Amino acid sequence: MKKICLSLASLVLLFSCQNDDTVENNSARLSKRACASQEVLERQLKENPSLAIKMNQIEAFTENAMLNQQRLVNGKIEIPVVVNVLYRTAAENISDAQIQSQIDVLNADFNATNADYNLVPSLFSGVKANVGISFVLDQVIRKATTKTSWGTRDAMKKTKQGGINPTSPTTKLNFWVCTIGGGILGYAQFPGGTSATDGVVCDSKYVGVTSNSGSSYPYNLGRTATHEVGHWLNLRHIWGDTTCGSDLVADTPSHNAANYGVPTYPHLSTCAGTPVEMTMNYMDYTDDRGMYMFSAGQKARIDAIFLSGGPRFSFAQP
Ligand code: ARG
Ligand code: ZN
Ligand code: CA
Repeated sequence: MKKICLSLASLVLLFSCQNDDTVENNSARLSKRACASQEVLERQLKENPSLAIKMNQIEAFTENAMLNQQRLVNGKIEIPVVVNVLYRTAAENISDAQIQSQIDVLNADFNATNADYNLVPSLFSGVKANVGISFVLDQVIRKATTKTSWGTRDAMKKTKQGGINPTSPTTKLNFWVCTIGGGILGYAQFPGGTSATDGVVCDSKYVGVTSNSGSSYPYNLGRTATHEVGHWLNLRHIWGDTTCGSDLVADTPSHNAANYGVPTYPHLSTCAGTPVEMTMNYMDYTDDRGMYMFSAGQKARIDAIFLSGGPRFSFAQP
């Protein structure tokens, strides 16, 4: 394919130049002027054979850069979301409106339009980031079940185990809604795993926005999904899952451990340099109302997975 395109291009060049050299009329002279760059190039190639190598490299680069063409909607990567609802009780069969409220939270949080974004302390105002990824509800698939809880071993993702197989998992984010059990709010599969189980699971009680006085509080603002989609987009826990561990992001301070509740600012880390912790980051473990930012370094990690050769390249394609 590459070869066909290249030879086609040289054929066209050959044609226009031949025309110039042989036909003597006004329009030909005009096009001769337009074609001088080609003549100059040919002279330079003769005088400097290494120029050909350099131009081939430019061609390879250009082709690769063109492969990176992303499917942008209003300038953003837009991820279609397939929501798979597994229910035994009426409460587990959450409404379309409840699901849409979750999509709305994802769009707000990943585009820095969340109402609490302005609560980010000035210490972090230089690194707080608009990730710039949008989500659109693609379809809702519902299935009745007799299971009371699904656990964390991906049974909900398998039709053979009573769950629902993912739909188009290389181009759509699959989101399972079910009772997980064991006090688990949600879990995600990181980039790199098999597409058969790719996606995010969120316990039915914690999907979307519910009242502050309801039983979902303090996980009632849809931030479980924001956190899990963060993992799905390759983000690690901010404390690096070990004491003073690394999240592989340079602009997030090191946390000695996960934070819970809504820590009073400033909360100092006990790690080297005792930095002020970024407890309001979505990748910590605080209550939903305590988390309201991603960082520029986290955005950079996310952006990388959508590039050619990256694990979520297929989600960004036209
Ligand atoms: N514990 C879950 C996880 O490790 C999610 C925590 C979400 N936190 C929240 N405030 N909703 O992935
Ligand atoms: Zn997590
Ligand atoms: Ca860090």
